[in-house]
Amino acid sequence: MTAKIIDGKAFAAGLRLRVAEHVERLKSEHGITPGLAVIIVGHDPASQVYVNSKAKQTQEVGMNSFKYELAEDVPEQEVLDLIESLNQREDVHGILCQLPVPKHIDENKIIEALSPAKDVDCFNPSNVGKVAIGLPGPVPCTPLGSLMLLRDELGDLSGKNAVVVGRSNLVGKPMAALLLRDSATVTVAHSRTKDLAAICAAADIVVAAVGRPQMIKKDWIKPGATVIDVGINRIDAPERGEGKTRLVGDVDYSGVSEVAGAITPVPGGVGPMTIACLLANTITTTCLANGIEPPSDLTA
Ligand code: GUN
Repeated sequence: MTAKIIDGKAFAAGLRLRVAEHVERLKSEHGITPGLAVIIVGHDPASQVYVNSKAKQTQEVGMNSFKYELAEDVPEQEVLDLIESLNQREDVHGILCQLPVPKHIDENKIIEALSPAKDVDCFNPSNVGKVAIGLPGPVPCTPLGSLMLLRDELGDLSGKNAVVVGRSNLVGKPMAALLLRDSATVTVAHSRTKDLAAICAAADIVVAAVGRPQMIKKDWIKPGATVIDVGINRIDAPERGEGKTRLVGDVDYSGVSEVAGAITPVPGGVGPMTIACLLANTITTTCLANGIEPPSDLTA
């Protein structure tokens, strides 16, 4: 069997079109233009690339984009004051501070300073709790994107055996909560899990989010299973020339794609979904702030 390739890039493009339609409706029917504010502290090149993509895609769907670039040595209080002023602004419906922040700034203070109603990353504990019990609100972007791809591939997830490999607060834990909400039977595996291969081999769905390049192997996967690879790892690629690198996921793609039913590639799988889901969350927070029912096609 050769697995079907799940085209996250194409799905994300479709999702952005749906977001753009909702933006248009908010403007024409309610006179509201959703606004997303992005804060970046310092000059980390990878963060710069992410933040520029976020700002560009925000504008492309017709939202207002507000970008704040702060110096590497900005006092923590200045970042907190900026967040507080954005919390108060009516034209800002979503706020995110790109992580990591420099060491002198406490990441948790940043997350807690952000109004939960504008927390489009869904990092605030109150929003994490809402995800767990199924209340409306933003949903962590990468798990939401993974869930959308799974639903699109499999339809109803009810009763499926799902294994999430990785228990991070950002991906593993919220992914498990979302799968459980969809009535999957969920196992969360992690670095202390015994006989991971056997646990994965019983799964209809494997979500790999461990951050270890090509760890999930072909003989761990049940024939026909759906594999979602959240990992983005840069490894040396001497075959491409001296000093060259390439991106790989947490799944050994060439082997696993011989047995899986469907698989997300890296790049081009879950990655493109993350920013599209950030925009979807901004629609959700805009609607909730204005007493409008959030669109069901943009959330869990
Ligand atoms: N850094 C890496 N990924 C993310 C993300 O999803 N949100 C924020 N705020 N920072 C990040």
